[in-house]
Amino acid sequence: MTVTPASRDLLALHGGSPVREKFLPYGHQSIDEADIEAVVETLRSDWLTTGPKVAEFEEAFAARTGARYAVSFSSGTAALHATAFTAGLKTGDEAVTTPLSFVATANCVLYQDATPIFADVSADTLNLDPVRAAEAVTSRTRAILPVDYAGHPADLTRILELADRHGLVVIEDASHALGAEYKNNRVGSLAHMTVFSFHPVKHITTGEGGMVTTGNQRFAETLRRFRNHGISSDARQRQAAGQWHYEMVLLGFNYRLSDIACALGIRQLKSLDANLARRREIAARYTAAFRDFPEIIPPAVRDEVNPAWHLYPIRFDPGKLKADRGQVFRALRAENIGVNVHYIPIHRHPYYVERFGDRRGEFPVAENAYDRLISIPMFHGMCDQDVQDVIDAVAKVLSHFRDAS
Ligand SMILES: Cc1ncc(COP(=O)(O)O)c(C=O)c1O
Repeated sequence: MTVTPASRDLLALHGGSPVREKFLPYGHQSIDEADIEAVVETLRSDWLTTGPKVAEFEEAFAARTGARYAVSFSSGTAALHATAFTAGLKTGDEAVTTPLSFVATANCVLYQDATPIFADVSADTLNLDPVRAAEAVTSRTRAILPVDYAGHPADLTRILELADRHGLVVIEDASHALGAEYKNNRVGSLAHMTVFSFHPVKHITTGEGGMVTTGNQRFAETLRRFRNHGISSDARQRQAAGQWHYEMVLLGFNYRLSDIACALGIRQLKSLDANLARRREIAARYTAAFRDFPEIIPPAVRDEVNPAWHLYPIRFDPGKLKADRGQVFRALRAENIGVNVHYIPIHRHPYYVERFGDRRGEFPVAENAYDRLISIPMFHGMCDQDVQDVIDAVAKVLSHFRDAS
């Protein structure tokens, strides 16, 4: 098809030319030659799993997040499971959390046969609202699980105060927030336990992988055992001590992260500052561009935080458009912009509806946000033209759907 100005203005959804030829995903990893070399070097070494690279990665990670201890896991989900176990969650217990997250946040409570109790989010940040969380606390509550949605730290001072008042463990799901700061403190150094994910769309990747940071030595020890079948020492420690004897002291899993993955993690961590800087630059460009779009509510940033910008979720004002979120989503996809939606509220998934009943309407802020949210591409490997293409595509689609009345 010949690209004429007219075909460029016509939505790709309606047969016009897309803003870009090649599909731009919403997130993507960056792997360089040094990353590849580090992995190859480990493949040639004596240790493929639980060797020197695990300890090196954990130490570097603890130093970077300002935490005392860092314990690696095979995924963020495994890390969440381990924190739920370590917090002592068991049958009959409850943990208060946000409905606006990936399902793994609440699933980890179910793994322990405890019950996730959802509390609504704040309208600006879409993070767990401490007032709603306080209302959800009962005599059965044992933990609170805030999520740093999109990379904006949760309201940690108020959540930690609430936890203090009721003797609860705070498990911060910071899967989106590696490198974020809250009141000049690094995320990872504040909650009783903080969980990170190294899935490829995150700030650094190990393929699959996760980490828990904590300042509590007893928690760190339980986390280490839980990820290794509940055994009190690992193979490398036994080899160093010339010992064969080990004891299984709790029912754990094999949730270990391999030396191969940790070799990649060590390398990736060195790029974290540059990755964060690029994400912040992209966020600033988006926010500046969207100032001219009254139909868009860009993500809020509270004064006391420096977000890590895992996602850039925008909300549409439906009153100002002749289209719903689904139409805008499809139109942007057709322009080859890889938009996504974060998240379908957890309580609306069929498994949760079947198990806990239809709770639709009980968390109006999260549900209202869900109806309007679209995450536009945000990853550190985006070039300036990629960013411009996203802005142009949003402008094109909105000008088509703008309600002229
Ligand atoms: C908020 C949140 N929690 C937990 C997870 C689970 O992490 P993983 O994919 O590493 O298991 C994710 C993953 O994307 C996430 O976004």
